[in-house]
Amino acid sequence: MQHLQKLIFDSIQNSQFPNQPSNLYDPIRYFLSLGGKRIRPALTLMAAEMFGIKDITDAVPAAKSIEFFHNFSLIHDDVMDKAPLRRGKETVHEKWDLNVAILSGDGLLVKAYVELANCPPIYISDLLKTFNRIAIEVCEGQQMDMDYEQADHITMFQYIEMIRLKTSVLLGGALQMGAILANASLEDQKLIYEFGENIGIAFQLQDDVLDAYGNPETFGKQIGGDILINKKTYLLVKLMELIVEEDKQILQELLNATTANNPNKLEGILDLYRKYDVKILADQLKDDFTQKAFERLSALSIPNDKKEALITLSNQLLIREQ
Ligand code: IPE
Ligand code: IPE
Ligand code: MG
Ligand code: MG
Ligand code: MG
Repeated sequence: MQHLQKLIFDSIQNSQFPNQPSNLYDPIRYFLSLGGKRIRPALTLMAAEMFGIKDITDAVPAAKSIEFFHNFSLIHDDVMDKAPLRRGKETVHEKWDLNVAILSGDGLLVKAYVELANCPPIYISDLLKTFNRIAIEVCEGQQMDMDYEQADHITMFQYIEMIRLKTSVLLGGALQMGAILANASLEDQKLIYEFGENIGIAFQLQDDVLDAYGNPETFGKQIGGDILINKKTYLLVKLMELIVEEDKQILQELLNATTANNPNKLEGILDLYRKYDVKILADQLKDDFTQKAFERLSALSIPNDKKEALITLSNQLLIREQ
């Protein structure tokens, strides 16, 4: 596993971007230098290795492409979520401004396609189809996420579909692209994609929990950011589902408030989360999706010992603190 992580680290580290215009390329360099966990490119390389790719370096451009896309989506996501912090540092729109965040994000998206074009030619068509399918789904998920912030009522079904699109299809797609590069069967491609989709849902549930309960020292993002903007996270959707009549008014007032006119917004919402035990329910649902994911992995046509690296990484992801 370590050799794959080194491959990713080196290849992203060695990416060259022009110096000028500096307000386009400095933010790209800055954002990529903040690192992050680099999970998605690791998934691409692991899947390629698991399905027996001959030369793992053939999968590096696809892995980079996925990571560039992910970083593009984060730069724009931080604008949409009004986030001040990412990976423990200032977000691009805070450090520069909104226009710089828009354009440097766009630039990274184009760089993702540049990397795709560097993939082995016989697989480019299949890779591009997978990449484009998930890329547009991420946009759909992000739009739902925005729309739901303003909505009064969101069902759990709508919430799960929203996180499936905004987060988990990219994990599934990263794995499927690795499988394509190793010439895996369509059945195995589908199973590994579904593994990623289910792990991705568990991953976003964990992210929602960490946003409210994470350790500020390690999380790298503003704690409580989702609560401040009334983001329809699992915790809020579940609370709205369970809340009894007598608490509805309290919740409504907290949702109508901003921290400027009510400094207790964060604490007030956290009190309600505690009262209705929604964190425990989030952890349970996370375990259900993890279980579903591992069922897909069992069904793959390859020997079990080949799946171990992926199982280890998935388990690390789901107990993550950042
Ligand atoms: C953040 O993803 C966005 C979500 C889908 C929750 P990561 O937690 O993988 O972010 P980095 O790349 O490690 O910073
Ligand atoms: C992120 O969801 C999904 C995408 C970036 C597409 P979040 O908004 O929860 O991610 P974080 O918490 O900012 O990393
Ligand atoms: Mg978001
Ligand atoms: Mg966000
Ligand atoms: Mg989040």
